[in-house]
Amino acid sequence: MKIKKFKTLKQLHEYYSTNNRCGLKKTATQPVYEIHPPKSGIVFIGEAPGKNEDLEGEPFVGAAGKLLDEFLKGIGLTRKDTYVSNVVKYRPPNNREPTDIEKRDCRVWLNAELLFLNPKVIVPLGRHALERFVEGARISVSHGLAFPHPSNIPIFAMYHPAVALYNPSLKSTLQSDFKKLKGFLDKGFELETSTKKKKRKEVVDPEKKKAVKDILDL
Ligand code: URA
Repeated sequence: MKIKKFKTLKQLHEYYSTNNRCGLKKTATQPVYEIHPPKSGIVFIGEAPGKNEDLEGEPFVGAAGKLLDEFLKGIGLTRKDTYVSNVVKYRPPNNREPTDIEKRDCRVWLNAELLFLNPKVIVPLGRHALERFVEGARISVSHGLAFPHPSNIPIFAMYHPAVALYNPSLKSTLQSDFKKLKGFLDKGFELETSTKKKKRKEVVDPEKKKAVKDILDL
């Protein structure tokens, strides 16, 4: 499929709100998205909107969003410095997890959004977003670590802020991972040398080239 050109994020989201097959739009109030690119180059990717997001049309405005704000404040950033999106753009009924089909049906939309934004780092929040970018990675062992990606945009794995609502002991883990993200930002999002070497190898690997095509060729 050809990549469509958009002048603004708003245009992009309006186009994909109409041109997507996601079955969740039948039950959701509206699609949930942001329209301002981030100054810091940091793009967070959550799972799917919840009840508050569904009503307001904006990502992370509920309890998990308040925690995200708190973690960002801890490293001297605000939501306005960053951009937040979701793997799935519509609320799954009763906040159930999105299915593989729903994730697939919103895939092109997220691809287009990331191509438009060209982030300096992508921060998947939790399992659903992480598996979209780092195949086979487990959040329990990958959180707080940066991974190379065939697009050359580094991926920084993070627990979903909502885990701290159910498991308060993970709050300090998230705070510490946000500090690591800040360190990564201060170093210009440079991956460690050993990881960089691996990244170069991966980029020439034909299988990985296919993956790049998958990301870029919408
Ligand atoms: N949780 C998510 O994953 N996304 C939101 O937008 C809100 C809560």
